[in-house]
Amino acid sequence: MKKEIVVSGIRSTGFLHLGNYFGAIRNYVRMQEEYPCYFFVADYHSLTTHPDPLLLKPNVYRVLAENIASGLDPEKVALYVQSDIPEIPELYLMLNMLAYKGELEKTASFKEKARNQPDNVNAGLLTYPTLMSADILIHKASFVPVGKDQEQHLEMARNFAQRFNHRYGELFPEPHPFNFGEALVKIPSLDGQGKMSKSENENATLYLADTDEVIRKKVMKAKTDQGPSEENTPMPDYIQNLFDLMKLVSGEEVIRKYQLDYAQCQIRYGDMKKQLAEDMVDFIRPIREKAIELQKDEDTLRKIMKSGKDKARDSASKTLEEARKAMGINFYC
Ligand code: TRP
Repeated sequence: MKKEIVVSGIRSTGFLHLGNYFGAIRNYVRMQEEYPCYFFVADYHSLTTHPDPLLLKPNVYRVLAENIASGLDPEKVALYVQSDIPEIPELYLMLNMLAYKGELEKTASFKEKARNQPDNVNAGLLTYPTLMSADILIHKASFVPVGKDQEQHLEMARNFAQRFNHRYGELFPEPHPFNFGEALVKIPSLDGQGKMSKSENENATLYLADTDEVIRKKVMKAKTDQGPSEENTPMPDYIQNLFDLMKLVSGEEVIRKYQLDYAQCQIRYGDMKKQLAEDMVDFIRPIREKAIELQKDEDTLRKIMKSGKDKARDSASKTLEEARKAMGINFYC
């Protein structure tokens, strides 16, 4: 086991989709074999948008179940819920003293959310990056497997770590994004517009909870055209996207066949989509079924959360103690 510590947070809102799977979970599963890992459901972060209290529990249970079904092993990693770790909000409070209003306001995700919910531009939204930094620094993590959209937040975590170290003495390593040296993947959406994402295009996004029928329907609706009529026609984006999706779930021979068909202007997109749909179904079905089974077994999920909480608090309480001392909050000795 290497010594660098890995931390990542999983949004508790919404259903996990293929973008989450290939962008994040697959890396978690690889990392759990090599590094001490802390993975958690970021339920506090979800409060920045005022979610329905009744949905919080089913969402948290589902996200846990889907991650475990995707291969995350609660025996190998600390898998926990953010709000189970009181040390996180305490460190968050401390880091907020090092975070400037100006830099928080400049954060891209803040500007976007403030635009989307102008009636609810709350302080939690503004300080989202400090809470995320606390999540990471509380375990002194060096590596954070996250997608591109989180790079700015990570940069801020590095700034806060540096500021803390500079002011109070070396305590935190600087956390960096880490994805085994592979380019951060973007999973294209089925409508040829951007990436799979819940907020942008629900119907062009494949979820790990989608039934076989829904998967087939979504794939068959993907945008195509008449096909190339001349050799060496460059592929339009929406066709390239279908090939990119195929590369995730289909066998090499299948992909080669359709590439050749395209090159020879013989491609039948209907057949290609049918093939892609079946390969997607085969890929998603076992994950979905395992996740459903786990969600029914609340006892097991509670045991997993509890054991994750114990592991995470063990590490978090040590760091917090050091941070308090470094800041001079040390009144009983
Ligand atoms: N902000 C991340 C997202 O939207 C979730 C998250 C919260 C996170 N805390 C984190 C990710 C700490 C990595 C590390 O996906």
